[in-house]
Amino acid sequence: MKKRWLIGNWKMHGDLESNKALVETIRGALPKPEDDIAVAVCPAFPYLFQLAELTQGTEIGVGAQNVSDHLQGAYTGETSPLMVRELGGRFAIIGHSERRQYQGENDGLMGRKALAAIDAGLIPVICVGETAEERDSGRTHEVLARQLDAAFGYIRTAHDEIILAYEPRWAIGTGIAATPEIIQGEHEFLRQRIAIRDREFAARLPIVYGGSVKASNAASIFAMPDVDGGLIGSAALNAQEFIAIYRELAASQPKP
Ligand code: PGA
Repeated sequence: MKKRWLIGNWKMHGDLESNKALVETIRGALPKPEDDIAVAVCPAFPYLFQLAELTQGTEIGVGAQNVSDHLQGAYTGETSPLMVRELGGRFAIIGHSERRQYQGENDGLMGRKALAAIDAGLIPVICVGETAEERDSGRTHEVLARQLDAAFGYIRTAHDEIILAYEPRWAIGTGIAATPEIIQGEHEFLRQRIAIRDREFAARLPIVYGGSVKASNAASIFAMPDVDGGLIGSAALNAQEFIAIYRELAASQPKP
């Protein structure tokens, strides 16, 4: 059976006090080993160490929301994936659409960051997704294929542990998630595209969905056969909501 994933992207929110309260509540409720669900939270960089300490000895992993595409060097303001690893991080979100939108990140940079994360011993959570305009003009598959090929061009699929996140930009932070049918269709498309490179890798690759997942829509999304979990933004900042989403994932049919 495939492991399922629940990853909280805290974005640029939180402070020492609220982070502690949030993670302590989550920690008290999950994850349960028998559910075979991996849970991770991704705070802003300055709080990585705090979260690593607060989750020590628990099953909750910690990740960064971004990393440099270099491991070391004269890159002012950047954070090496090696530093994330040393501070207790195990994951790095790569190519989130907010970085594409506000920081000008492109497909090539996403691929290099994913590779640097892997080289540093992190699991990259590689984000792909189309804008509303791209979807409306019928270019969703063209865009997803381009993003995917750029990222996977850098990766030695057979050996690396990777999580892929389908995050349509129009569903992020809008309160309106993609429908379960759209999500299933795009996850299937992504998996098939990766299968062209490596069929066995594609079959075991976790593909999670992100974009306005909340307790009220989680069950229908997690019921889809190609959905292996969720990348949760705003709802991850509310402990009870995040726990409720976890419970929906635990109650969903395990993936073969
Ligand atoms: P959202 O964000 O759940 O607030 O839509 C998801 C994400 O940006 O990863």
